[in-house]
Amino acid sequence: MTDTLTIKTPDDWHLHLRDGAMLRAVAAESARHFARAIIMPNLVPPVVTGAHAAEYRDRILAALPEGADFTPLMTLYLTEDTDPDDLARAHADGLITAVKLYPAGATTNSASGVANFDRVRPVLEKMAEIGCPLCVHGEVTDSEIDIFDREAVFIERVLDPIRRATPGLRVVMEHITTMQGVEYASEGGPELGATITTHHLVINRNHILAGGIKPHYYCLPVAKREEHRLALRRAATSGDPTFFLGTDSAPHTDANKLLPCGCAGCFTATNTLSILAEVFEAEGTLDRLESFTSINGPKFYRLPMNEKTITLTKGDPVEYPSHIDTDDGPVTMFDPMMPLHWRVTR
Ligand code: NCD
Ligand code: ZN
Repeated sequence: MTDTLTIKTPDDWHLHLRDGAMLRAVAAESARHFARAIIMPNLVPPVVTGAHAAEYRDRILAALPEGADFTPLMTLYLTEDTDPDDLARAHADGLITAVKLYPAGATTNSASGVANFDRVRPVLEKMAEIGCPLCVHGEVTDSEIDIFDREAVFIERVLDPIRRATPGLRVVMEHITTMQGVEYASEGGPELGATITTHHLVINRNHILAGGIKPHYYCLPVAKREEHRLALRRAATSGDPTFFLGTDSAPHTDANKLLPCGCAGCFTATNTLSILAEVFEAEGTLDRLESFTSINGPKFYRLPMNEKTITLTKGDPVEYPSHIDTDDGPVTMFDPMMPLHWRVTR
């Protein structure tokens, strides 16, 4: 029986670190186990220019614990007013790694997102030219489309047309949640990647809705049927380089989750690696955990792999706290509803 596992230090290719008191509380949770993370730009107001990205990066670096070895990889929030030249400069200077597309109204703080995709065509063409990846929140926002169908409809109506119209554009389908997402990503060739979250490997929609509503399992894209969760588990554990970890750890205070109209997001930064080791072990694919957490992502982003390693050790179940404290109030940690035997020991 394998009871220790040493892998290259993981990266998180989709992370919400927020700002202010929340940032100060959660930055250490990611820096403890991850070397780098793609930082989501959906602050209020969003990170829309190279100058904003530089300022936000400095606030993140200031929030890290003394001696932390963690590199935030910054992104710009694409709007209909994004200036292609500002974007290209920020990319050339190494200030940003990618650009995030939110369809207007799709999720938390996405009001400045794109409504008319024709208006961002020049920006997308510039990105294809300079090799800057586009990270896509893949859900349509039309009120007549059922929320459980929004990813599949987005692929057909928005993503596929954008990719056909912009040859060479490198795209990451963020936090895929459906078998249609898995299928489209795996057939998309080397210019298409897809991130999968920790929580979507664990929960399906019953966990949110059956036996009482569970706000802490509500996130966007919302978890789908069990058959979709199983497709995600097969994709994540397949070793296929298309798929890599983006936790989408998205902290909200309990006060903001537990409302009549509560916020979407699961906070998984702290216990993600224990959960993933458990999932990969259950699938009989522990030897592929490193591909998912530490190899496929840098390959897609054309960045060097981390040289340092972490070691996970199997033992008695790890007790994670139910929440972390922030100066804005407690944030509940994602509960995977199963004992976690793997902990990061080095
Ligand atoms: C994210 C957030 O809270 O910023 N929420 C979520 O449920 N994942 C936004 C997002 O990534 O969609
Ligand atoms: Zn997110």
